[in-house]
Amino acid sequence: MNDLMKLLETRRTYRRFEQREVAREIIDEILVAARLASSAANRQPLKYVVVSKPADVTEVFSNTRWAGYLPPELGQPKDEEKPVLFIAVVQDETISKSSDTDAGLAIANMTLAAWNHGVGSCIIGACNKPVLSEMFGLSESEKLHTVVAFGYPTHTSRIEDTKSADDIKYYMDEAGDYVVPKRKLEDVVRYL
Ligand SMILES: Cc1cc2nc3c(=O)[nH]c(=O)nc-3n(C[C@H](O)[C@H](O)[C@H](O)COP(=O)(O)O)c2cc1C
Repeated sequence: MNDLMKLLETRRTYRRFEQREVAREIIDEILVAARLASSAANRQPLKYVVVSKPADVTEVFSNTRWAGYLPPELGQPKDEEKPVLFIAVVQDETISKSSDTDAGLAIANMTLAAWNHGVGSCIIGACNKPVLSEMFGLSESEKLHTVVAFGYPTHTSRIEDTKSADDIKYYMDEAGDYVVPKRKLEDVVRYL
């Protein structure tokens, strides 16, 4: 397996982290990776809010929900497991009214660039957007898409083949590591 495929396979969602800060150079690289992403008509409508001060991270964290398939006592990171960095992805609707694909591409680049340095991530859609938009000082035309959480993971995450069509729920094994069922290629690809 080449390095890129290994990076793609191991760049999973991580939900428990060391309380060790992510160096500024790595944060900068994550942001450069976002900048490098493609966007429709090269409009580049995305903006980013970097949250790294511990008190701010705690406030953002308290407005996020984790691991909907698991009971909160398992899936929600404890205070001493929380991420140490959030980067919010914001859609500037004065530039484009439809940039969900752009956001997905930027987020993929960001999480890969982070993981290339061993920094794990969790994309968070389930957050209190009105509260966080106010905290970030967003204007009417700036729409909060997601916040992405980052940190050095204290668990592993691995994929396995789904066993049936509806077997898509990730779970935690006895060691506390995440296992993520992925549909087999033959279930999602057809050749003409
Ligand atoms: C658009 C999007 C929103 C997500 N929102 C959340 C979330 O709010 N909370 C959470 O714990 N995980 C969230 N996730 C992570 C998914 O649960 C995770 O990607 C999925 O279970 C597959 O795991 P994998 O990333 O390791 O492949 C989100 C992922 C995506 C792509």
